Amino acid sequence: MAEELLPGGRVNEVVRVGATVRRRPPERAAYTRRLLGFFERCGWSGAPRFLGTDDRGREVLGFVEGHVPWRIPRAPDVDADESLVRVAKLVREFHDLTAGTALAAGSEVACHNDLSPKNTVYRGPDGGRRPVAFIDWDAAAPGERVHDVAHACWQYAGLGPDGAGVAEAARRARLLCDAYGAIDRRRLIGTVLWWQDRCWRGIEAGAAAGDPAMAGLRESGAARAVREAWRWVDRHRGELEARLSDRR
Ligand SMILES: Nc1ncnc2c1ncn2[C@@H]1O[C@H](COP(=O)(O)OP(=O)(O)O)[C@@H](O)[C@H]1O
Ligand SMILES: [Mg+2]
Repeated sequence: MAEELLPGGRVNEVVRVGATVRRRPPERAAYTRRLLGFFERCGWSGAPRFLGTDDRGREVLGFVEGHVPWRIPRAPDVDADESLVRVAKLVREFHDLTAGTALAAGSEVACHNDLSPKNTVYRGPDGGRRPVAFIDWDAAAPGERVHDVAHACWQYAGLGPDGAGVAEAARRARLLCDAYGAIDRRRLIGTVLWWQDRCWRGIEAGAAAGDPAMAGLRESGAARAVREAWRWVDRHRGELEARLSDRR
């Protein structure tokens, strides 16, 4: 069957073959497979199914039909408040499913650790596409709820200089937190900064160590952009925190 290269991957070459997707197994493949298998047994449809490996050693995953907004500018549906709320609810769902299981491994939950629009499949009528699943579970690991929620706020709410400004980013982050529910919003901005710092340093370190994917990311300006986002959040931290914590 014909292989079609899928656009939007920045780290892996991902191809579609019929109703499946083939990609290089992630570094922590065993954990990701256990997690995807667990979601399948729970009947949770917010992640692709893990179907095995092919004769070339690639992972075979179920193709999730829909729109993946890997390019800027994004379709307006993606940034609609209703989509943000739906993202938060999907995150809450898989956190609640994994809480207290062996997949949380003594931490709170299993975290995705790379939640962003480009790792989300949106589906629905034109002008009303909503998130239905997260893809790219390569970085999944046991963690705290606030880790995923902060990463999601950074990526979906636009916490950086390319977003819609401090007030709007804070409003969107708050919407996401409120839709998620029980989260300590006081820890949010600090955790966003932790992620951004880790992310740009990780790209730089990987590129310096000769990892071609990280070198490519660095070349494309990704590390610089994340560093700029860190600076922006750090500069506006006081106002962001005030807007997030106020009880109105
Ligand atoms: N299970 C899937 N269903 C549908 N599309 C997928 C699936 N997995 C990957 N894709 C497509 O392939 C692209 C790259 O996949 P991804 O897993 O995000 O790779 P990378 O690790 O390089 O970011 C995505 O942007 C998406 O368009
Ligand atoms: Mg991806």
